[in-house]
This record gives sequence, C-alpha cells and structure tokens, in this order.
Amino acid sequence: MKISIIGTGYVGLVCGACLAKKGHDVICVDSQREIADRINNSEAVIFEPYLSEYIGEAVAEGRLLATTDIEYGVASSEISIVCVDTPYKNGSIDLNNVEKAVRDIGRILRIKNPYHVICIKSTVIPSATDTLVKNILEEESGKKAGEFGLVMNPEFLREGEAVTDFMNPNRIVIGAYDDRSYEHFKMVYEGYFETPLLRVSLRTAELIKYASNSLLAMLISYSNEIAAISEAIGGLDAEEVLYGVTLDKRISPQIDGKFIRPEIVKYLKSGRGYGGSCFPKDLRALIAFTESLGYAPKLLRATAEINEMQVGKITDRLEKELNGLEGKKILVLGLAFKQNSDDIRESPAIRLVKLLSEKEAVIYAADPMATEKARKALEGYRGICFLEGYKKTAISFDAAVLMTPWQEYLDFLNEGSSASLKTALLFDGCRALDKYKFNGSGIKYMGVGIS
Ligand SMILES: NC(=O)c1ccc[n+]([C@@H]2O[C@H](COP(=O)([O-])OP(=O)(O)OC[C@H]3O[C@@H](n4cnc5c(N)ncnc54)[C@H](O)[C@@H]3O)[C@@H](O)[C@H]2O)c1
Repeated sequence: MKISIIGTGYVGLVCGACLAKKGHDVICVDSQREIADRINNSEAVIFEPYLSEYIGEAVAEGRLLATTDIEYGVASSEISIVCVDTPYKNGSIDLNNVEKAVRDIGRILRIKNPYHVICIKSTVIPSATDTLVKNILEEESGKKAGEFGLVMNPEFLREGEAVTDFMNPNRIVIGAYDDRSYEHFKMVYEGYFETPLLRVSLRTAELIKYASNSLLAMLISYSNEIAAISEAIGGLDAEEVLYGVTLDKRISPQIDGKFIRPEIVKYLKSGRGYGGSCFPKDLRALIAFTESLGYAPKLLRATAEINEMQVGKITDRLEKELNGLEGKKILVLGLAFKQNSDDIRESPAIRLVKLLSEKEAVIYAADPMATEKARKALEGYRGICFLEGYKKTAISFDAAVLMTPWQEYLDFLNEGSSASLKTALLFDGCRALDKYKFNGSGIKYMGVGIS
C-alpha cells in the first residue's frame, strides 16, 4: 500500500521504517526540514536498536522517502497515519499539532478523489477523533466522513524496543468510523499473521491506550508505595516483598513446576519512578480530561503523585547519608529515561541532576547514548561534568547513583565495581543490581525500598 506518515519523530519514524520493511511504500512527512533530510540520507534521527538498518535498507530500495511537503505525501498515498506529538500544556492535552496536520490533510482531500483513510496514531483524549478530527476533516475537505475513511490505531511500542515491538506487536487495536474504513485500513497490517486484531469504536481505541499506560504506571507507583512502606518499617527489602507477591500463580502461573514470569512483572518493581514522553503526560492528560467531565480519578492522581516524589526521595537520602550535598562528588550513571534509548523527555535522571545541581553538588554524569541531548537540557545548571570514561576515571566519588539500567552499567557494577569504581556509596535507583555483590567491597549499597 502507499502510506504517508505525518510526523516522523519516535513513533512516526519507527512506524514508517517498519511498514516499509513489511513491503509498503512509505512517505514520511515532517514539518522539520532537518528530519526529512536526514531520513533521505538514511539516517535515524533517534537512537533505537535496528532502526538505522531498516531506514538504510528501505531508502536504498526506494520504499521510504521523506519530505516536508504534506500535499505531496497525502496526494501520493491512500492512507495517512498521523503521528504528531500531543504534549501536555497548561493543564490539558495540547491537540494543536493534530489539528494542524488534519486541517492540511482535509484541504488536500478536497481535490483528491480516490478513497483515502486518515488514521490517528497519536495518543489523543477519548472523543477527539470522532469530534474534533472528524469535524475538521469534513470542514476542510467538503466531504462527509464515509466518503473518506477514519480510524484510530493507538501505538503501544516501548522505546528502546520500538522496532521489535512494532514488528511483533502483542495486539493491534483499530477503532473504526465504519466498515469501509476498517476493511481498508486493516490491510496495513496484512503481514501480521500472529497478532490479534481488535476492532472497536474510535473512543474505545483512544481509551484503551490511556487505560494501558495508566495500568503500567500504577503498577510502578504501587511498587514504590510498597518501597516507601518497607523503608519506613526498616530491616526488610521491598524487592523481596514484591518478588513474593509476584509468585502468586494468578500473576506468575506455574507450568511443570516452573514459574512463568510474564512481562508485566517487570512493572512490579521499585525504583526512581517512571519517566519518558508517554506515562507522565498521558496520565496528566487523562486526569485533566476526566476532571473536566466531572469525575475525580483518585487512583490516577495518587499514581502521578507517588511518581512525582521518587527522585526527591533519592536526593533526600543522599543528602542525609552524606551530611549535605554541597561540594559532594556524585556520579550519575544513566541520563536517558530508559535503557537502549537516547530519549531524555521527563527522565528521572535529568531531574536528579537538576536537584543535585541546585544543592551545589559536583555532578559527573554519564550515558552511552543520551549525553548530547542531556547537555542541551541541562544548560544553565552548574557543577555538571559529562564523563565518558567512567570506568577508568581517577576521581573518587562520594556517591554513585544508578539511574538508567543500561546493560553495560549492570555488567560493570555487578562484576567489577569494587575493583575499579572509587566511591564510598552506591545508590541503586533502579533496583537492578545484586546487592550482595557489595558485601565486603568497601562500598555501601543503598537502594529504593531498603532503609
Ligand atoms: N514515544 C513513544 O514511545 C510513544 C508510544 C506510543 C504513542 N506515542 C504517541 O505518539 C505521538 C507522537 O509521539 P513521539 O514521541 O513520536 O513525538 P515526537 O515529538 O518524537 O515526534 C513528533 C513529530 O511530529 C512532527 N510534527 C508536529 N506537527 C507536525 C505537522 N503538523 N506536520 C508534520 N509534522 C509535524 C514534529 O516535527 C516531530 O518530528 C504522541 O501522541 C505520543 O503520545 C508515543
């Protein structure tokens, strides 16, 4: 099929590259010229495993090209997938970019006669597609919905595993305006033989996305509440408590005497809280939207509040343990909001560095992929040095804090930390290390959920 992707940041670019890999002809449309030029030069503008290979292959084979010209993109395709950003601003979701993209598409549909399907893949509040989006498209095109197709197809990829997730999704949800929209759009996913396809209404598709992110965020905050309770009690470790909880066979079923550990168990883990471009903003947007409907979402509010406190709690514990932070040398390992990604949006690690800087600590920050983005985000904050060779540095730190569980950090800390890292204290902000490795090493191990 000929598909245009409108907005080629994290989601749009992964979607475009993967659909090209599946054999579609893809035109990536982005309002930023630099993004379009770099894609045409076979460059991935973000770091995701396998992405640059997919882009290089598809560009070379002529199945992927990028442009800033939305008219060309829409006119040359039969389906347009809108993947523009939907930030949270001034107390609610900001749908300006969706409105602009859809207005542009509508104008082109006025003069384009063959049937065209518009898909909203951006995360939007329930009812946005069948009201705002539909109305703009009808107004600008002069056609009625039905003459063009309309679907809402939320994206569930996880950054850091985005390509693998897009190529092997666990479900494909399609909210469709009518049968024709659905039948036409589902051909995008023709090569996904193993994946369950769920057809729902537009609003249901929109809420499935929010409800999924809320559940995962809630599990993280639940785990962090158990961690806070464990710290208050003392003499126990929240991770052992949570492990005991997850052995319930309704969570981890037993087959032939062995526990099957489902993916969801990864979210039942204490640590520095969630970040990234989705969970924090989606929760805030859903809370604000729900409140505007007259319902107070208590569980969602508590989830967000618990998460907001996590980084401050780490700073407080470091401050107490080190008798103040002023002039203390702190190594922060990891700046991206998660491993295998260079995304620092709402990263707990960036928040930690800012708090430490405000407390006048001397910060040495490292990340395998995200230092350039972090450097920009931390401009104006004092006392920050970006460290490349953290393994061999002669600096003696007062504390090292693990904030992003990159495999290279886990290997380094779990295997050789006591020999090569000169630090009095190691704070495990991810609960990803083997705490017993540090017994007798001269390094004091601390972590979320152990007091
Ligand atoms: N990042 C994720 O892991 C993820 C996962 C699932 C869903 N989502 C949702 O997908 C959407 C996109 O997220 P993202 O992280 O890819 O955002 P992003 O900021 O990385 O990318 C958005 C892109 O859209 C472009 N753009 C904005 N307005 C445009 C317009 N009118 N015309 C053409 N291009 C335009 C921007 O230049 C940018 O490159 C959001 O709604 C987000 O909530 C994100």
